[in-house]
Amino acid sequence: MTARTMAIVRRPTDALAHCELTHLERALLDVPLAQQQHAGYVTLLRELGAEVIMLPEEPALPDAVFVEDAAVVLDEVAVVANPGAPSRVPEVAGVAAALERFRAITRITAPGTLDGGDVLSIDRTLYVGRSGRTNAEGIEQLAALIAPHGYSVRPVRLTDCLHLKSACTYLGNGVVVANPRWVDVRRFEDYHVLEVPPTEPRAANTFRVGETLVMADAFPETRERIEHLGFAVRAVPLSELQKAEAGGSCMSIVFRHHPA
Ligand code: GLY
Repeated sequence: MTARTMAIVRRPTDALAHCELTHLERALLDVPLAQQQHAGYVTLLRELGAEVIMLPEEPALPDAVFVEDAAVVLDEVAVVANPGAPSRVPEVAGVAAALERFRAITRITAPGTLDGGDVLSIDRTLYVGRSGRTNAEGIEQLAALIAPHGYSVRPVRLTDCLHLKSACTYLGNGVVVANPRWVDVRRFEDYHVLEVPPTEPRAANTFRVGETLVMADAFPETRERIEHLGFAVRAVPLSELQKAEAGGSCMSIVFRHHPA
């Protein structure tokens, strides 16, 4: 049977207005608009060929829409995270339950912490941000859990941003898009690094669904630079979710499923 593209998502609730914020000031957040933008995002995932798994809402968990942080999904195994913000720890249960249908489950456990948004997979290497959310113990646990499957881990230092994937993501074809003011791009010495302009510091967050890269529509110059390299891009409005310190990748876990 042919492989299917799956996308786990969860709708934001009124609680989003009380989300965690680390590097942003709290701004008035229009939750109905955030829900509308999320619906548009989900529609795009479907349009790009993903089968969407919509988790039940979590009205008591402000950041539960940001499912990416709850797990790292590889072809062979899913590693359920232990989020570095205590308010976010209960989010992982629903994501783990959904993933059990598709992958063997392993877990990061205390004192290790790890947010999925800190993990950038490129082929068999996982670059992991040593952030305010992901600690050295969490990175060591991840390395030990995935080594048997042939993956290695490279820790990366960050400044002034929440997660590694706030600062850089992989476009494909050997290209990393990055904000060099937030991450030391020398870590990606084997890749061509496409820098975002200083006017668009949060533009390096992208993710791939099939052959298409998805990003927020707030970064036209970065989009143009990416398209100039020959990548297909779809940009979606995410203004209200960005006020919650999110990028486009934060709202989904996209993975391949090979039915038996
Ligand atoms: N509001 C996203 C986070 O801080 O995890």
